[in-house]
Order: sequence, then C-alpha cells, then structure tokens
Amino acid sequence: MRPGTGLAVVGFRDFDVEAGGSSVLRTIRRSRISVERNRLGDSKHGHLSFSGHELSRDGIRAWPRRKEEEVGLLDGRSGLVTGGANGIGRAMAESLAREGANVLVSDIDDDAGVETVQRIRSAGGTAEYLHTDVTDQDAVFAMVQAVVEAFGSLDFAMNNAGGGSAGRPLHRDTKENFEHTIRLDYMSVFYCLKAEIIQMRKQNAGGAIVNTASTAGLSGLAGLAAYGGAKWGVIGLTQSAAVENGRFGIRVNALCPGSTETEAIRGIAEMDPAGYQARTSAIPLGRAGRPEEQADAAVWLVSPRSSYVTGVALPVDGGSIIRR
Ligand SMILES: NC(=O)c1ccc[n+]([C@@H]2O[C@H](COP(=O)([O-])OP(=O)(O)OC[C@H]3O[C@@H](n4cnc5c(N)ncnc54)[C@H](O)[C@@H]3O)[C@@H](O)[C@H]2O)c1
Repeated sequence: MRPGTGLAVVGFRDFDVEAGGSSVLRTIRRSRISVERNRLGDSKHGHLSFSGHELSRDGIRAWPRRKEEEVGLLDGRSGLVTGGANGIGRAMAESLAREGANVLVSDIDDDAGVETVQRIRSAGGTAEYLHTDVTDQDAVFAMVQAVVEAFGSLDFAMNNAGGGSAGRPLHRDTKENFEHTIRLDYMSVFYCLKAEIIQMRKQNAGGAIVNTASTAGLSGLAGLAAYGGAKWGVIGLTQSAAVENGRFGIRVNALCPGSTETEAIRGIAEMDPAGYQARTSAIPLGRAGRPEEQADAAVWLVSPRSSYVTGVALPVDGGSIIRR
C-alpha cells in the first residue's frame, strides 16, 4: 500500500468481515472507532481500535481483540540491528523478530552473531547475519544494501553497536582512546544514519530509526568524557536527522539506556561488587535494567505505536537520570 492512500487493518486479521455481515459493520460504525490514517508511510499499516464492550452485542462477541501471539507489531517489516550479536542488540533482534519483523543482525563478533540468528530462526523468526564493522562507512552502506537484497526494503534500523571507554579522567585520556571511542560510538552512527536515510528516502515510504545513546549522553559522568561526549553527539545527530526527515515520514529517536545487565556491566560488577551494589541501589527502581527492557522500548520506537514521536532521547534507566 502506498503511503497516505488509505487504510489497512492490523490486529484483527483472523476476523472475516464478510462473514460478520452488514449488522456487524453497522455496529462497528456506531462504535467508537478510531482510525489512524497512514500518514506519510511511517506505518505500513493503519490501526483500528474500538471498545470491546460496545462491540460485545449483536453476536459479534467472537470478534477477537488483538491477539498478541498471532499478530506482530512489525509484521512484514524489514530492517537491521547493529551490534546485534550480544547484549542489548541481541535482545533487540529477538524482540523485533518476535513482533514479525525480518531482521538483519550485524556485528563483528561473527560466532555470537550467527548464534543470535539461530536463536531467532529456531523460535520461528526470520533473520540473516552479516559481518559489519560500523566504523567502516563502505561496510555500513553494504549492510543497508544487504537488507534490501534479503528482504526487499529497509523499514527500520537500530544503530546500537558501541561501547564504553576506559574510565580515566579526561585530562589523563589518550588521543588514541578518545579517537577510537568517537569512531565507534559517534562516527558509526553518522555512517548508519546516512546510509539508512538515503535508502528510506529512495523508497519513499517513511521509516523509523533508533540510535542507542546512553544516560551518559544526558548528564556528565566522571571518567566517561569520550564515551559521554560521543553519546551526547548521538543525541544531536538524532535531533538533526529527525528535523530533516520528518516530512518524509522518517522518524529518528534515541534510546538512552541506564545501567543494563550485559556482559560488560557484569564484568564491572564482578570487579567491584560493593561499588556496583551502591550505584544500583541508588537507582529509583532499585536495580539495573535487563537487555529485554531496552529492546521493548526500542521496538516501540520503531513501531506504529509511536507514530507521533520523533527526535526524543528516551531514558530507559529505572529513573537514574532524575537522581543525578
Ligand atoms: N549495558 C549498558 O549498561 C549500557 C548503558 C548505556 C548505553 N549502552 C549502549 O548500548 C549499546 C549496546 O551495548 P551492550 O551493553 O549491549 O554491549 P555489548 O558489548 O554486550 O554489545 C555490543 C555489541 O557491539 C559489537 N561491536 C563492537 N564494536 C563494533 C563495531 N566496530 N562494529 C560492529 N559491531 C561492534 C560487539 O561485538 C557487541 O556484540 C552500546 O551502544 C552501548 O554504548 C549500554
């Protein structure tokens, strides 16, 4: 369906409107029906919602409410996750696939990347793996082309690959470490955004992009000047890209994880259990996050459920940022 030309219904696919007959349709029309028009193609699907109570008369109780297990939020959409082999990226790839998306998992950790794909496939999802170093612009452009070749279009992207630098004060940081961190956490997002936006504009069907920033990009943290600076930069890139591409139906948002239990964080916790415990108990929700909780927010940000959200830097941090 071309963007802006009509409506499609998701969430009720196994109800046969014809079989329901005209009384069903009349009842539906009388009911509080809200239809989100498929404006500028962010959604390939429109969304129809109604009150189940009002519709429970006239023998149409059988009309199913949305069946989560059968209808994915991202059915038929295609896209990519960078850094999808481990941690938050793996959780993103698995959540996307669970919601019906076709996912290209990219990373430089090939064994773990292939494992992510195998996990998705054995759960019934669709995924491919591609070795991609996100600090290499040509490789990033090839990754976007690989999505199009494998699945036909690029509808969403999660630019997630990245990592922290050694926790030194700024004045003791080295040029090499600083430049490495900027290449990995900042330049990579520029390459990804550029390649993805070119492709999405060419398709002329909108799209949604999430860049993984960090709460370190929302307030200053000791020992993380390079990393924090790069993540602040990612939020800046996100906002500029959102402004430039909104009228093409392309939404661009940033996810700002707080402390999330991935291998890297587990390593830090093992090195300094008391310090980790103290930092964790200062989080309003009293614990570190799980990769799946980051993935849930990211999936929402690329889904039609966030169709009026662009340019935000969303903290998913148990409230830690409001305590700093
Ligand atoms: N875990 C946290 O507490 C936390 C907090 C804030 C932000 N983040 C951000 O979330 C993202 C994911 O972090 P994570 O905790 O899942 O880390 P992780 O180390 O578990 O996963 C990062 C993935 O990126 C891949 N990667 C590294 N360099 C790459 C490169 N040059 N090209 C392609 N892939 C590369 C790694 O192989 C790995 O699979 C990162 O951007 C990180 O900065 C994490």
